[in-house]
Amino acid sequence: MAEERLGGTIVIEGGHPLRGSVSVSGSKNATMGAMAAALLVAEDCTLENVPDIGDVLHMAEVMRSLGAAVERLTPHSLRINAANLHSWSPPTELVGNLRGSFLVMGALLARLGQAACSPPGGDVIGQRPIDVHLAGFAALGARVSREGEKFVAQADGLKGASIFADYPSVLGTQNLMLAAATARGHTTIVNAAAEPEVQSLAAMLNGMGARICGAGTHAVEIDGVEGLRGASYRIVPDRLEAGTFAIAAAITQGEAEILAVCSEHLLSLLAKLREAGVRVEVDGDRLHVCGGGELRAVTIQALPYPGLATDLQAPMAVLLTQAHGVSYVHERVFDNRLLYVSELRKMGAEVVTTGTTTAIISGPTPLMGASVRALDVRAGAALILAGLAARGRTEIADIYHVDRGYERIDEKLCSLGAVIERV
Ligand code: EPU
Repeated sequence: MAEERLGGTIVIEGGHPLRGSVSVSGSKNATMGAMAAALLVAEDCTLENVPDIGDVLHMAEVMRSLGAAVERLTPHSLRINAANLHSWSPPTELVGNLRGSFLVMGALLARLGQAACSPPGGDVIGQRPIDVHLAGFAALGARVSREGEKFVAQADGLKGASIFADYPSVLGTQNLMLAAATARGHTTIVNAAAEPEVQSLAAMLNGMGARICGAGTHAVEIDGVEGLRGASYRIVPDRLEAGTFAIAAAITQGEAEILAVCSEHLLSLLAKLREAGVRVEVDGDRLHVCGGGELRAVTIQALPYPGLATDLQAPMAVLLTQAHGVSYVHERVFDNRLLYVSELRKMGAEVVTTGTTTAIISGPTPLMGASVRALDVRAGAALILAGLAARGRTEIADIYHVDRGYERIDEKLCSLGAVIERV
């Protein structure tokens, strides 16, 4: 993605049903883990199906600051070589650009015996502690301390351990897998996150010679190996982009085919869409979504996988503004991920919140074009969905948030018949 393409405002003329087919890119969050894994070896790692998005650029900058060579072979493939690492402490300003940057911590600790990193950036969606990561590093035998703004972990050889994670943190589980892959002996992570991005990292690491099983369950078992090797890995499809397109087809009362998806990763979303009255069929790696029927109010709960992804909570809430009846939206992963509601209200949605984790939506309400702001990547995507369904013109500022996680979302939606311009 060329730097100058990032950001700006997008202007949507709503009311056009989406029709046709669109392909999903590789997963943003799986790419973060795969890039960090390449720091574990001095050999080339090649990643295919890498999404062309802002967070990949940001992660590449973090990796380069450590001495890794990150080279784009094609628009969707990267070659990473970490033979000449010269730093174990990425600059704070780079780490602050994205949450996934903190994954370098586990990889550097394993590879170099030390790592220092300031608290990572990422979306403002609630408290985002990193105690699971740090307690896990300590359990593996690292000395963990705080020096100024940075967390520091140091070890003279990590040792396998039995770790109980206080919360099934996605990045926490990934960081511990990166650290434990070459630790001496056996590691068990109980209460591990089961998200597909964790499974994806385990597959990449196993391709590099690691011995990890149980990824995708809440108990990950790792037999530490002496060394890893470079590998080629194909990034899994982005379930969140796929879900966003499915909702886009439904909310515009259109009919779309979403290609290159892994439907297994979308079971909770597909069940909720069907319950709300959307027709969805799965055919191998294609989703056929047909809106147009009357939408029914439903209750949704964002939960750790395989529950409904918190990243699809805001997009689903927008769909529910068009459903008949009262819908309840419970966010149970993050403690402040309903900030987009105030923007949605500017477009005419009838939403009340109780506390910071429950929204009650009365529908259907006609949405009207308005000037709104993308507050984070998924909140921004949700407002794009609202703009597609709204009467008139919607202007969404701060689109750089959306570009961090969605590859050319405006162009992809235009290919389905949406009328969107980036200014
Ligand atoms: N938590 C703890 N202790 C920890 C870590 C997390 O209590 O040490 C709690 C958090 O407070 C939060 C919950 O666990 O309430 C979930 O946080 P988690 O650590 O699982 O989230 P994350 O790993 O920081 C990743 C994704 C997010 C996605 C969440 C949940 C990446 C780069 N980010 O974040 O993706 O929402 O998992 O599935 O993988 C996005 O793509 O838009 C995005 C925000």
